Amino acid sequence: MKMVSIGDINLNVLDRGSGGIPILFVHGFPLDHTMWRRQSDYFSDHERVIVPDLRGFGKSGVTKGTVTMEQHADDLAKLLDALHVDEPIIYCGLSMGGYIGWQFWKQHRERLRGLVQCDTRALPDTKEAAANRLQQAERVVVEGSGFVADAMLPRLFAAETIAEQPEMVAAMERIMRATPSEGIAAAARGMAMRENFIEQIEQIDVPTLIVVGEHDAIAPPEEMQTIADAIPEAVWLQVPGAGHMAPLENPTVFNDGLAEFITM
Ligand code: MLT
Repeated sequence: MKMVSIGDINLNVLDRGSGGIPILFVHGFPLDHTMWRRQSDYFSDHERVIVPDLRGFGKSGVTKGTVTMEQHADDLAKLLDALHVDEPIIYCGLSMGGYIGWQFWKQHRERLRGLVQCDTRALPDTKEAAANRLQQAERVVVEGSGFVADAMLPRLFAAETIAEQPEMVAAMERIMRATPSEGIAAAARGMAMRENFIEQIEQIDVPTLIVVGEHDAIAPPEEMQTIADAIPEAVWLQVPGAGHMAPLENPTVFNDGLAEFITM
């Protein structure tokens, strides 16, 4: 791991492996780079894997207030500059990492060789969901990260993952509890104001892999299927036995699917 300055802040990043096609793995909310450990171990034998903690998460610097999906996308472009990654990359994001992925395509299309959107949505929050997020942002600053972890945890994993991989689930819970509350609040405010991307989705003009866990309760397969249907060059992967954290819950199916997509 290393700390990399992107101008106004330092990002903590795992930069491992060399050769091949650089893959940028972007975590979900409120997690950090370790949710991709089963991918960084697997892909770094042949590819360069770049796995940051986003602004406000893990050991990266924290910005108070609001951090938009657009800002996160710009942060990632600056990170690639700082790491001297000039060649086109595969962007692989999960959930909030996917919301950022749409913006990365919009703002930094020239840097993309392909897009992998996992367990994510193109629709914005409903009015009610946005209001809940804003409330959550106020509350987390006062009460700390614990209640966000309590609220998120039951929705992240398939029932069989909770039964069969309790240590991995416990590790993710620890990360959520350790995430800085100001970082959670800033990202929650940013997600509440994210744009409706569904209108633009058919303009996605890079090879795209759409991945969803069979039992995802946050970005359900039916909703993700409409995303895949709308994107001209989309490949579809439904991960059996997995919930919202498909790459972590069933890494064998996910890694095989991603490896195949990369060589297409
Ligand atoms: C995530 O996993 O990043 C979150 O579920 C995103 C969200 O809360 O919309």
